[in-house]
Amino acid sequence: MGEYPVIPFERDKHEAALFEFVEKVLGAEKFSSRGRALAWYHDSMPLRDRHPYRFVVVDGERVAGSMGHMPADYVIKGELVPVRITHDLLVDPDYRGKGIAKRLVTNSIQTGDFYPGGMWMNVPCHRIHLACGFDDVLAPSTQTLVLDPLGFVVRKELSILKKSAMRVALGLAERRARKRSTTTLKQMGGARAIDRVKEFEPRFDKDWLRMEKSYGIIAHRNASLLNWKYTNHPVLSYRILLATGTAGTLGYLVWRLPLEGAEERRAVIVDYLVEKRDADTLQHMLSKVIVDASEERVETVSILTTQPWALKVLRWFGFLPRHGRHTWVVAGWRDRIPSNWLQDHDPWHICLGDSDGDFWTGSQ
Ligand SMILES: CC(C)(COP(=O)(O)OP(=O)(O)OC[C@H]1O[C@@H](n2cnc3c(N)ncnc32)[C@H](O)[C@@H]1OP(=O)(O)O)[C@@H](O)C(=O)NCCC(=O)NCCS
Repeated sequence: MGEYPVIPFERDKHEAALFEFVEKVLGAEKFSSRGRALAWYHDSMPLRDRHPYRFVVVDGERVAGSMGHMPADYVIKGELVPVRITHDLLVDPDYRGKGIAKRLVTNSIQTGDFYPGGMWMNVPCHRIHLACGFDDVLAPSTQTLVLDPLGFVVRKELSILKKSAMRVALGLAERRARKRSTTTLKQMGGARAIDRVKEFEPRFDKDWLRMEKSYGIIAHRNASLLNWKYTNHPVLSYRILLATGTAGTLGYLVWRLPLEGAEERRAVIVDYLVEKRDADTLQHMLSKVIVDASEERVETVSILTTQPWALKVLRWFGFLPRHGRHTWVVAGWRDRIPSNWLQDHDPWHICLGDSDGDFWTGSQ
């Protein structure tokens, strides 16, 4: 069994078997949206020419296991660096427990690329990555603001007394967050604007790069990638905010309303970019999200940041850390980043939309 080869995915040869495999492992219901997202990735992901973007383990015509090997660019210490991100580690139940997952991850490391990221891992996947030589970067956690305290508290398994105390505290925080948001937008004045736009224009690419260079390490964005990810998604629908001031573009933020049918009506801010320490622009964009999310009767708003100054802005609005922590693992980093960056969040700009976050069917 262990002899089945790990080979680069070739669309014309392996796609049909890959889809059959994913549908078998995830089930038909999950595959109905996942399959569309996979096809969208294979059809139009802007960096898909950087072969291979996936490895598969094959047994004759059949795919027995697979892992994504997503090409991306990062800006590291001001320089553009091509990198890879591992994602979607999956083994057919008929072939599990035979070392296939480990061989897939080890194979990736052996390609010698730099692998930043891996936020959407479950516990086994995270363990396998560490066992195969990936290293942890301090785990980032999602920050959440509660906009509907009653809806939020009802689902908690707490005593009635605790529920009502929590509801009162969250109610105060919620009113304060709304007030701070409306006041922030009023006080912003005519010199700044936060506009909802349909897509990213290429003329802003130079601004994104300038902002990216203010961080130690960050995923590189441009209109082609951002539009692919956020305006052309086959399943998810995003809202894009653009911040401008008299001197030009100040940043963007991407968020989406809760997934249909989800138990918690959680809006998710998947991506934002401003110059490092530009707390004002982040505050303005968050205010707009909070006001709009309130109108849409959203229960909670979530965001992830690794930047300490951004965390301060979130605390000011009343965002609090959620319990679950994300993973963030790196490999092939020794020639790229100093070892102390593994213990320090400050150089990293990480959002929920990084790695393959939200890609498939939403990061609920
Ligand atoms: C997790 C998964 C990829 C492992 O595949 P596999 O080929 O059976 O794994 P391997 O045989 O290479 O085992 C690797 C190690 O992980 C451990 N492991 C595997 N599955 C595990 C599980 N579900 N829980 C805990 N540990 C697990 C194995 O015990 C082994 O550890 P060891 O080397 O110390 O003995 C497979 O079970 C799977 O596809 N699961 C469903 C999808 C999934 O969870 N993917 C991760 C998405 S982020």
